[in-house]
Amino acid sequence: MLVLGIESSCDETGAAIVKDGRWLLSNVVASQIDIHNRYGGVVPEVASRQQLASVLPVVETALAQSRCSWNEIDAVAATYGPGLAGSLLVGLTVGKTLALARNLPFLGINHLEAHIYANWLRNGDVEDTATQKTDVRFLEGDPTFPLLCLVVSGAHSELVLVRDHGDYELLGRTRDDAAGEAFDKVARILGLDYPGGPSIQKAAQQAEAELLQQNRSVTQARTAYRLPRAWLRGTYDFSFSGLKTAMLHLAEGATAEAQPSPEDVGKQISQYTRMGTEAAQKGPTDIPILAASFQEAIVDVLAVKTRLAAQEYNVKQVVLAGGVAANARLRKRIAQELSPLHIQLSYPPIEFCTDNAAMIAGAAFFHLSRGERHGFDLDVAPGLSLPFKK
Ligand code: KG4
Ligand code: ZN
Repeated sequence: MLVLGIESSCDETGAAIVKDGRWLLSNVVASQIDIHNRYGGVVPEVASRQQLASVLPVVETALAQSRCSWNEIDAVAATYGPGLAGSLLVGLTVGKTLALARNLPFLGINHLEAHIYANWLRNGDVEDTATQKTDVRFLEGDPTFPLLCLVVSGAHSELVLVRDHGDYELLGRTRDDAAGEAFDKVARILGLDYPGGPSIQKAAQQAEAELLQQNRSVTQARTAYRLPRAWLRGTYDFSFSGLKTAMLHLAEGATAEAQPSPEDVGKQISQYTRMGTEAAQKGPTDIPILAASFQEAIVDVLAVKTRLAAQEYNVKQVVLAGGVAANARLRKRIAQELSPLHIQLSYPPIEFCTDNAAMIAGAAFFHLSRGERHGFDLDVAPGLSLPFKK
């Protein structure tokens, strides 16, 4: 079954053609990062206007690259939530219109569920083999149920037990900021580019590379600052707002030390003491080390809680989903947590962790094969959550 998928929930416009929920025929993404970087975050009004400008060229390119004619397409799917209402409306309307015009079945897709289904996508022939070797683990077959999924995106951080297709149980979620949101806000605090995740990862890698060059341990950068971790013991919930506040205080201190600083800033710094490593220099050069310590604090909590949940629910497999799943340190830390337990870990290639339409077309296949369809009256659902049974 060939599905044309369309994604427009936030600041990426995507179209893809995927066969049987797994095999990629084409995958096109138009990103607005350069535009929103000027504002330090996504401006919804700008995002929806940009969606409108990009959507038709992106769909046309996806069709052309797949070398499929409309006659070969079996269904059209588009994200209907969660996301920004104006952005969602563009892709959903185009998807419904194309399905109506071509007399094809239509299906609205839950963006979060699609992130999970990115784990079913195979490399097909568009994947870069170099990246695959270093960074991507492809499964021999499909992921096996029951599995535990850590969904970490710009707006969501959830631990979800997936017993079967469509059978989701929520084990824990963030009580305040999502992991991606924390990366984005802290990047802004540190004066790094939007989106925050990749720039914090890059800054942290820079700090680590400098230490390695001096024959010192990378751990020094990761532990340079003693940052708070909200363990919320006895739950699988997360909280990242305290960490964000600590970073704000530290960053104020870091900049203030370069200039004459008011006394109270000094007090705030001492609350989150620097561990006294020589690597942690004062002033703006601290930014990469701050980034490394912050990334470690987030990754620590995500990795340990994922391992605890995997043990309690006795899953054979853990999968990662959402933009933050692109984080190299997160992938490594979770792999370290799980390897003594012989629990398999898999995650999509980086470009399928962040927003894309291949995951939309992929998820659609599993719904369509169960005979599910949506009417053309389907509306956007900006606050949609995963369809939890419990
Ligand atoms: O899934 P996604 O593309 O969009 C949403 O559905 O929200 O996730 C976007 C989020 C952003 O917060 C971005 O900073 C984060 O994913 N992200 C990363 C990395 N790449 C993207 N976070 C940490 N490390 C990365 N390498
Ligand atoms: Zn997403």
